[in-house]
Parts: sequence; structure tokens; C-alpha cells
Amino acid sequence: MKIGIFISGTGTNMAAICRNFAENRLEGVDEISFVLSDKRNAPGLEKAAAFGIKTIVLPKKKDEPKEDYESRLLQEVRPFGTSLIVLAGFMKVLGHTFLSGYDGRIINIHPSLLPSFKGVDAQGQAFDYGVKVSGCTVHFVDETLDGGPIILQQPVPRLEGDTKETFKARILEQEHILLSKAVSIVCMGKYSISGRFVTLF
Ligand code: GAR
Repeated sequence: MKIGIFISGTGTNMAAICRNFAENRLEGVDEISFVLSDKRNAPGLEKAAAFGIKTIVLPKKKDEPKEDYESRLLQEVRPFGTSLIVLAGFMKVLGHTFLSGYDGRIINIHPSLLPSFKGVDAQGQAFDYGVKVSGCTVHFVDETLDGGPIILQQPVPRLEGDTKETFKARILEQEHILLSKAVSIVCMGKYSISGRFVTLF
């Protein structure tokens, strides 16, 4: 299966996917067709280029309606014929226009055990709340914020002496493992969805 990856920032999750692919450890994936960033200066762009992957920069214009931006996104990525779009730190909430072009074929990594701590700085939210356990979630994307059916989750305990930074770093380590696992599951079709529940096989 051909996949495309969307990023907005440092791109460590994207780089983990690329590394696994380069080392033949990403079952079900035949090609990483592109890495697209909505931020011109995203450090992840250089990482993608270092893996020899085509990079695309497509920022939203000032005051551009969301639908128009998403139409441009679709026009940009459709020609690649990718079967799956992976949101790896892509910090825009995609709406109907884009999702209708990729129905059920977009997944996202979020740094909390959903449905807890949606939105930005999920690790900081969890830390400030005083949780004993948070973690990360890979889910299908629908029109709700961090709300689609869950594919995989990995708990990460908050340890005695953790700071926000160390907690975040240990969650990120697990994200790097979890996202590639989910990409393979989806690309190999080893799942079925019944209502909100995703069965893996
Ligand atoms: C990751 O922690 C990812 O889970 C999070 O952004 C970070 C991107 O890091 N995404 C979200 O919060 C989406 N709601 P990366 O660019 O180094 O992969």
C-alpha cells in the first residue's frame, strides 16, 4: 500500500515510520509517497528529505476558508494515489472537505489515552491533572476532535520524579512504536470496525 504522511513540526513520529520502512520493518507498506507539512519551517521536512522522501509544503493562506484550503490539500495529494494518510503531529483539525476524499483512510496519533485530554498539549494537561497513567492513542480520523474509532493504545505511567518534559519524552518513545504498528495493521487490512470498536486480527 502507498501511504502519505502529514506533519506540522519536528516530525519524529514521521521519521520513526520512515526508519522502519527503510529497514523493511513496516509490513504492508510499499511506498511512502510524500511527507506534507502545513508549516513552511517544520524541522520534520529536512528529516523526510534525508530519507529521500518527496516533501510538500502547503500552508493555509491568511483568512482562507477551511474548505478552500482542504480542496487545495486534496488536489495536491490525490495524484499520488495513496491508500492511507497518516497524521503524525499534523496540528490542523481536518473537516468534511478533506475527509470525504479519504473516507476512513486517515489515521492520527494523539499523546494521551483518549478520550481523556483531547486537543493541544495533551501530555501537559495529563501531568497538570495529576494522572498516574497517560499514554498514546492511534485512531481513525473523523470530523470530531481526536474522536474517531481507536486502533491501538499504549499506557505510560507517570513516575515518581517525572517532570512534564520527562513524561512527554517517555510518551513520545511509545508513540514512535505504536504509530508504525497501527500503520501496518491498517495497510495489511488486519482489522474490522463495528460501530466504534476496532477488532484487530
Ligand atoms: C506528537 O506527540 C503527537 O502525538 C502530537 O504532536 C507531537 C508531534 O511530534 N500530536 C497531537 O497532539 C495531535 N493532536 P513529532 O512532530 O515529533 O512527531
